[in-house]
Amino acid sequence: MQDIIILGIESSCDDTSAAVIHNGCLLSNVTASQQVHEDYGGVVPELASRAHQQNILPTVSEAVKKAGIELEDVSAVACTLGPGLMGSLLVGVSFAKGLCVSLSRPLVSVNHLQGHVLAHFIQQKGKEHEVPEFPFLCLLVSGGNSQIVLVKSYNDMEIVGKTIDDAAGETIDKCSKFMGLGYPGGPIIDKLARLGNPNAFIFSKPHIKGYDYSFSGLKTSFLYKLREAVSEDPDFIEKNKEDLAASLERTVVEVLMDKLVKAVKKTGIRCVAVAGGVSANTALRNAFVSRCDSGFWKAFIPPFSYTTDNAAMIAMAGYYKYLNKDFCSLDTPAFSRVKV
Ligand code: KG4
Repeated sequence: MQDIIILGIESSCDDTSAAVIHNGCLLSNVTASQQVHEDYGGVVPELASRAHQQNILPTVSEAVKKAGIELEDVSAVACTLGPGLMGSLLVGVSFAKGLCVSLSRPLVSVNHLQGHVLAHFIQQKGKEHEVPEFPFLCLLVSGGNSQIVLVKSYNDMEIVGKTIDDAAGETIDKCSKFMGLGYPGGPIIDKLARLGNPNAFIFSKPHIKGYDYSFSGLKTSFLYKLREAVSEDPDFIEKNKEDLAASLERTVVEVLMDKLVKAVKKTGIRCVAVAGGVSANTALRNAFVSRCDSGFWKAFIPPFSYTTDNAAMIAMAGYYKYLNKDFCSLDTPAFSRVKV
């Protein structure tokens, strides 16, 4: 068998990541996260691209070194072409294109969201695990996207439902900000929620037909509840932060699961997966497992390390595109918005 070595590069938001995959097996995955955004309560695009510039060379060098290969051994370079922050994407895409020119290797472009889905197929020697069978449904929930994806094969995916406004992660992050908690809010809300009563507060839920999501109403109802309660008791948030977090988390999980269950019933596909940063959430994972235990579906939940942005998933997606000889012209530009 011919050796296929893919170098993957991810720089769509605030993580600079590089990974090496050999014949579909992960050799290395190195990520430099950016702490600079914490003081601002969200990712600052200009600061993110500057940090990517500083991190990209050492991150790629370390990934190559850890994999025990030379750059010349690489068969192709796969990079996230979009969606994401344009300034951030440009750093990774330009770096990948430069490598392709200097090594005379093809470029493989990866849609970041498809990368998240294919994180389920990342295998490591000695740690092999069962992977979802095609076709399966994947709930993709990240900071910028909430989608139900019908995955027909590695390279053939269809969006069944998507958010018409805010994403689940973005909503949790914003509500965390309203409460004066840190960024990113997801892990903080998750931790607090474990100590709170999920039924203490009722927030509004969307009534959207079909499989699309909406979270802007929930965000507004959370903000109005806080404003009203704080005007009566300035210590309201401090006194109730665990219950607020648990109630918010329950609402988000219920909204996500309701549509997913509906899609499972409609399609008859009982193999489901979850992907993206929000899939690290404890209540969401529990909801997946409990439906699995009751025999409703077979669930695939990725390891924590592959829920957030990483280049291993980009290299993996690049590997399958490489097998299809699906290469990308060097003059193809990065794109910031979701491409369906
Ligand atoms: O996939 P990701 O790393 O980046 C994007 O591509 O957007 O997702 C980041 C999102 C953030 O909104 C973050 O707050 C959320 O994932 N997140 C969580 C948890 N860990 C990360 N949300 C809920 N519970 C968590 N444990």
